[in-house]
Amino acid sequence: MKFILTCLALCLAVTASAEEKDTSRIPGSPVQIIPAPERTEIDEGTFRLPESGAAFYIKGENSGQLVPYLESLGNGFVPAGRQKDADIVIETGDKAVKGLVFKGKEDEAYRLEITPEQIRIKALTEAGAFYGLQTLLQMTREGKVRELQCCTVTDSPRFGYRGLHFDVSRNFRSKEFLMKQMEAMALLKLNRMHLHLTDGAGWRIEIEKYPRLTGFAAWRPYAKWTDWSADPVYCEQSDPAAAGGFYTKDDIREILAYAERLHIEVIPEIEMPGHSEEVMAAYPELSCSGEPYRNSDFCPGKEATFTFLENVLTEVMELFPSQYVHIGGDEASKSGWKTCPDCLRRMQEEGLENVDELQSYLIHRIEEFVNSKGKKIIGWDEILQGGLAPNATVMSWRGTEGGIKALKSGHDVIMTPGTYCYLDYTQDAPFKEPEAIGGYLPLSKTYSYEPMEEGMSEEDAEHLLGVQGNLWSEYIHEDSHAEYMYYPRAFAIAEIGWSPAGTKDYEGFRERALELCGLLQEKGYSTFDLRTEYGDRKESQSALEHLAKGCKVTYNIRYTDQYPAGGDGALTDGICGGWTYGDKKWQGFFSDADVTVDLGSVKPIHYVGATFMNVTGAWVHIPQKMEVYISEDGEDFRLLGTAYQDISDKQNFIFFKQYSVICNEKARYVRVYAQRATRPGACLFIDELVVN
Ligand code: ACM
Ligand code: ZN
Repeated sequence: MKFILTCLALCLAVTASAEEKDTSRIPGSPVQIIPAPERTEIDEGTFRLPESGAAFYIKGENSGQLVPYLESLGNGFVPAGRQKDADIVIETGDKAVKGLVFKGKEDEAYRLEITPEQIRIKALTEAGAFYGLQTLLQMTREGKVRELQCCTVTDSPRFGYRGLHFDVSRNFRSKEFLMKQMEAMALLKLNRMHLHLTDGAGWRIEIEKYPRLTGFAAWRPYAKWTDWSADPVYCEQSDPAAAGGFYTKDDIREILAYAERLHIEVIPEIEMPGHSEEVMAAYPELSCSGEPYRNSDFCPGKEATFTFLENVLTEVMELFPSQYVHIGGDEASKSGWKTCPDCLRRMQEEGLENVDELQSYLIHRIEEFVNSKGKKIIGWDEILQGGLAPNATVMSWRGTEGGIKALKSGHDVIMTPGTYCYLDYTQDAPFKEPEAIGGYLPLSKTYSYEPMEEGMSEEDAEHLLGVQGNLWSEYIHEDSHAEYMYYPRAFAIAEIGWSPAGTKDYEGFRERALELCGLLQEKGYSTFDLRTEYGDRKESQSALEHLAKGCKVTYNIRYTDQYPAGGDGALTDGICGGWTYGDKKWQGFFSDADVTVDLGSVKPIHYVGATFMNVTGAWVHIPQKMEVYISEDGEDFRLLGTAYQDISDKQNFIFFKQYSVICNEKARYVRVYAQRATRPGACLFIDELVVN
């Protein structure tokens, strides 16, 4: 009996095969792995690996690093003298893949054949053979399962770029940490490590020409970003309180050698023109004001800025073999540029209309420089502002609009929209999770992301390089916390990046994720515990019935257009918000809130209440107070009662607070006024306004 499983058929096959034998669930079956392979044929029988290890034999021209890799695994892999004595034969080159058809990218494709006599891996390239081995390693649970289901796996990735991002600026991580995460990435067939090496919180790479970057800008008198952000200063490396660090060039070489063996391309990011407070503190002459601690952006009006950036990039490009340098480009404040004489002169000389065009001028110049060295730039989607540099690859994070716009103009794009790919968002109910920046991104949501959107053409697909998961680390001090945030959501990124389109099955994926979390835990990783997942806010999961539901709301102060939720009817639509205002169910006010609800006729009322959200890290605060007024005619209102803030809104965790007034009255109109917190920039987020 032999049956074929494409990804799509995985869940069906569990049922179909049950009549024969549930091969999908026996240990050592390839259908349990992540990312799900493109095509799997389950064959009769099993192959037994010797208890002591496995003898391997390598054939073909493309296998440079496989022997040291296998020997480094410590699972008893030993070279066999002759092919026929080997348990595993790995063959690479044209001959190995002759006649094989892969649906994805051939240069990472492989075929894995497990017969009762032998295991064979065939691939065009060493990377393909490496991924065949990763499939095998997951099937064996890294050597613990010795009896393997006979099968043929034909597999190739959907996208060439499958990335994971590491923010080593906000909280520095050791090279050992990065190498450990590379091992997990390899197991998941993730092939790009994006290193966010520079940001306001610390410069993390040795640059010989600019020693103050690592002697000063890499060190803070506070170890934790959350402590430092209240007093964002730097200190000398020799300061007894100095915390932070940087990678020496030798460290980077070590990281890169490790990455090469694991078929991971490490992409360095050097932020510009914004997020550069640390550079402006060390070399204030590169800022508009010329003074430390005044500007966060480079001054694009000064030639010194370009000299500095080109010198830094030269050293970076000499070190990293990647074809790409990520130049950041996000969230520049541009505020100093508007009044800086150098910036204004540059704008006049270059005929630039506004500061967006000035940013674009800087990115264009940097791109030209990077291209002249035979490399390419990637930038966050803000590099579209003021005109995109001709050869730039766009990393789309503020949704996918920027990415789509770039695709439509023929640019390469990597999708990493925050709502699906920002792994720093809380992955479960905030009351049970570690402190986080906010948001709510459960595994199921990351997994549901589909990079090919409606309206994208075949041509767009050619330029859609792939996907990436990002872990910004402001709130993530400990390595174990970082791992907890990556896994299992990085599994979903891997499957989106590798497995064929249209084959998703969350329940099946979740089961595989549980298995793989177990394996990673055994290997010493901290992972989120999917078994105790709470899920979204219960109030958001079913409609709420109350007296004001469906009633007209008049806005005495209007909500912000950025967070309208459902618009004018949102506060009385019976729909409550979930754990994040990003779910489009919370209505946002960048001011006080003031609304009047018309119940349609005079009615007895006993309760008026509303729930507010608090996410200190995002300037979302519960109100100082909520006043409730009532009226029978809509003209004369009287104060019914006031609910006051009775819990600190400064605490750095996400919480929800219901404000209410109890009464025994009659009214047709109910006016609710919420006074926002005193913190400058504080905003209010309200879900349902309930009257009963
Ligand atoms: C970003 O999240 N600022 C790229
Ligand atoms: Zn300037």
